[in-house]
Amino acid sequence: MRSPVQKCPGDFFMMKKEKLYIFDTTLRDGEQVPGCQLNTVEKVELAKILEGMKVDVIECGFPISSPGDFKSVQEISKVVKDSTVCALSRAIEKDIDAAAEAIREAARPRIHTGIGTSDYHIKYKFNSNRDDILERAIACVKYARKYVDDVEFYAEDAGRTENGYLAKVVEKVIEAGVTVVNIPDTTGYCTPEEFGAKIKYLKDNVPNIDRAVIAIHCHNDLGMATANTLAGIMNGARQAEVTINGVGERAGNTALEEVVMAIRCRKDFPVYTDILTRHIMKASREVSTLMSMPVQPNKAIVGRNAFAHSSGIHQDGVLKNRENYEIINPEDIGLNDSNIVLTARSGRAALKYHLNMLNISLTEAQLDVAYERFLKLADSKKDINDSDLKMIAGVAQEHSGQRIKLDFLQVVCGKGSVPMATATLDVDGEKCTATSGGNGPVDAAFGAVRKIIRRRITLEEFLIQAITRGTDDMGKVHVEVRNRGNIYYGFSANTDIVTAAVEAYVNAISKIVWKREESTI
Ligand code: KIV
Ligand code: ZN
Repeated sequence: MRSPVQKCPGDFFMMKKEKLYIFDTTLRDGEQVPGCQLNTVEKVELAKILEGMKVDVIECGFPISSPGDFKSVQEISKVVKDSTVCALSRAIEKDIDAAAEAIREAARPRIHTGIGTSDYHIKYKFNSNRDDILERAIACVKYARKYVDDVEFYAEDAGRTENGYLAKVVEKVIEAGVTVVNIPDTTGYCTPEEFGAKIKYLKDNVPNIDRAVIAIHCHNDLGMATANTLAGIMNGARQAEVTINGVGERAGNTALEEVVMAIRCRKDFPVYTDILTRHIMKASREVSTLMSMPVQPNKAIVGRNAFAHSSGIHQDGVLKNRENYEIINPEDIGLNDSNIVLTARSGRAALKYHLNMLNISLTEAQLDVAYERFLKLADSKKDINDSDLKMIAGVAQEHSGQRIKLDFLQVVCGKGSVPMATATLDVDGEKCTATSGGNGPVDAAFGAVRKIIRRRITLEEFLIQAITRGTDDMGKVHVEVRNRGNIYYGFSANTDIVTAAVEAYVNAISKIVWKREESTI
């Protein structure tokens, strides 16, 4: 267990810090976004990532809402051991029954139940009154406590709930046995001052408030979710409810990475978290990929430009001392040191520097090939990322010193036309050209190559993989060819998939060693 006292470099005194519990609701509130639904396997995978980064509580679904959600919560309960596994329910007995059943096998189960407490919800959602809602709140907590010791209560739309009534509800649900009281700003309406004051009001006016943890759950409708969460923490909240990348309905929830890094980076918060921040980037990418939800480039902490210094003045300043322009070390969130953006104007040294950061070292000849490839790619693609660099390095290692190279390729294809290809190969400096038809662009291009090579070459395996993030991304091609009983492998990657295919084919063919005079070229 980590000590609750952290020494802050530069502080003149030791500030006593309390633990802030991180409650992640990516799999519940985050997953409610239309088009972002995940299947059970994907949810289990994400839950393991969250557990790996030491999230304290994983809210993994709303079991009554669908058999799929029920199953996911059940499966996550079986595998997650270190984090608390939480299931959502309304203040309705059959909801609570379903939640309890779904988390039955969890090592640390929690039921999250609650009801709307604002006058809007009381009048227009429940057609009820404050006393009735208070009774239902108490009853649902008591009912959930029959199943588990760890019960969290949410006062939905607490952001717009009158403070006096909210304090009464909080006091009564604590009396009924909750461990955590969640104060959500469901509509994202509050300002930081107002929200902070609400938490302070509860701290000052609920007599038994010390018997429960205050949680805050903010939505980002006015772009203030993180600010409101931090204001809540400054005023006594000790559980922050967040999602990775801030995903969630409408403008989303508070982003985990923003709260965790704000607390880590600024020394003046009275709390610490146990989050392993180096896992943040991986979690962000995984959520973005699985939910098909791109992260905006300028998103704080995890956006691809968050650490990208592109202006000359900033690049110079960062290279002299990164703290001139960086308040967070990119490595702290699991990013390699890629703070200098690679563009078509970058030199060989910048490319080498980036490859070294990826632990890739190339010979000078390989670097020549890599640099040539890099410049072509940078012309056709805006952002060169680490996978592009790995790909370029792989191609450079394969292709440097290659005796036969693809020098030119033109392909005609499309609906209603006969695929035709013209290829020029550079064989030991000599250019040879041939044209061929085929049943498709790749077949035609391979035919043209075979006409030049005039060898008995059989294509044994041909594998194209699109690395699809955008249409300007590279595709990878692996081929396997046979000549005189021997197998040769070829590889290439290119934004033009037909070119990648032919380059991979030529790469494999160039490994077939035969004497120049023996060649029929
Ligand atoms: O935003 C909200 O109020 C919620 C509750 C169900 C906790 O998501
Ligand atoms: Zn919510």
